[in-house]
Amino acid sequence: RTVYVNGEYLPETEAKVSIFDRAFLMADGVYEVTSVLGGKLIDFEGHAVRLERSLGELDMKMPMSREALLEVHRELVRTNEITDGLIYLQVTRGAPGDRDFLFPDPETTEPTVVLFTQSKPGLANSPVAKTGIRVISIDDLRWGRRDIKTVQLLYPSMGKMMAQKAGADDAWMVMDGKVTEGTSNNAYIIKDGKIVTRELSTDILHGITRAAVLRFAREAQMEVEERSFTIEEAQQAEEAFITSASSFVMPVVQIDGTKIGDGKPGARTARLREIYLDESL
Ligand code: PDD
Repeated sequence: RTVYVNGEYLPETEAKVSIFDRAFLMADGVYEVTSVLGGKLIDFEGHAVRLERSLGELDMKMPMSREALLEVHRELVRTNEITDGLIYLQVTRGAPGDRDFLFPDPETTEPTVVLFTQSKPGLANSPVAKTGIRVISIDDLRWGRRDIKTVQLLYPSMGKMMAQKAGADDAWMVMDGKVTEGTSNNAYIIKDGKIVTRELSTDILHGITRAAVLRFAREAQMEVEERSFTIEEAQQAEEAFITSASSFVMPVVQIDGTKIGDGKPGARTARLREIYLDESL
């Protein structure tokens, strides 16, 4: 596989990043995951806009223009012959050559830019979309700026491990009694026919898939309510689902062992997935 590191396309075995990189020492970096379907990038523009925002919130600048970034994405899709899969992009504050809590001078320390691809044949036809996923609830112990897509993924990673141990697929995180989001996705329920999902704030990541799905839902005359909900309300909902660049729209059929509806993926969730994939392709 060919990867991109700081201006160079290299075989993955030759790609190198300094041990003093701020992301390695301090999780001082941000990332994006963009999906590829049929060789086409899904929502590149949205991911580029969010990247610029994440960087800006951490006093960093875009390492290159959006056009140049798009070209790197396209080049990797071509070189690695990705039909269906994901592109991972990470920008860090770079490697100042020593460990220091203070940010290095951006004039002397260049950001580290890394991109690699992950081939996932049949990504859009995942059999899991037919059966749905089971989630458990856990406390949201992450920091308070979840709107910034940083590489601090230890707690989400622990959440997935807790889910796996409990025989589930993912965890929904709860703060002050209300669901924030999944470990790597946004969370939704359908109640009284309305799509309910937490409103945007610094408490959750502003999902690119979320924005698209809500837009398509409104266009299809489905009602949307942006507000938080409890695990109990979710357990009694008609349907539940998650969205992300890697899962698109994925039904949730069980929360903390309680079946949602009849325990099968809901019809409106299936419809939303279909609309999202149709419109994105
Ligand atoms: N995760 N919330 C969190 C905490 C996320 O990490 C993600 C994305 C989302 C959904 O955002 P989007 O629709 O823009 O992918 C919500 C990516 C896919 C990941 O970490 O692999």
